Amino acid sequence: MAIHNILRMGDPRLFQVAAPVSRFDTRELHDLVRDLFDTMRAAGGCGLAAPQIGVSLQVVVFGVDSARAAGQCPTIPDTVLINPHIEPLGTGTDIDWEACLSVPGLRGRVRRPNRIRYRAWRPDGQLLEHEVAGFHARVIQHECDHLQGVLYPSRIEDWQSFGFSDAFDAASEPDNRTEVPASGRS
Ligand code: NI
Repeated sequence: MAIHNILRMGDPRLFQVAAPVSRFDTRELHDLVRDLFDTMRAAGGCGLAAPQIGVSLQVVVFGVDSARAAGQCPTIPDTVLINPHIEPLGTGTDIDWEACLSVPGLRGRVRRPNRIRYRAWRPDGQLLEHEVAGFHARVIQHECDHLQGVLYPSRIEDWQSFGFSDAFDAASEPDNRTEVPASGRS
């Protein structure tokens, strides 16, 4: 088990386009996946991409168990996506909160397609193809953005909806707080 430092926004490695994985079911790949899950959990996140630990390969992991979801967002089974490709389904979009382990302390609302089809490979080389919607689709899009060198702040449309989490919390009336960040840090 190895918990890695997570690169923070400002490190140029976060803005590189990651290379595809060419060999599956290798010791190195399984070790990388394990380290990504360990690092994600240690940081309390719900997703992590290899470039966030300085590995410029197209590998992302995510997963939200019931304890992590805490009734505030849906659960998602632990998933590994390698060389993922995403295609939006339809034209519908949602705007919702996101946060990122590489942008600690902040959150913002981001518009994204609300239904996607994705194709990716598992570490053993098996092909995955699924259609997902809502929070699940948002997490995948956020993680796959990391593989293109994109961090969510670059997708902010309304700058009043981007800021420090504790400032948002302090500004909202406790009895009148209707919005909870749907997305965990990733
Ligand atoms: Ni992120």
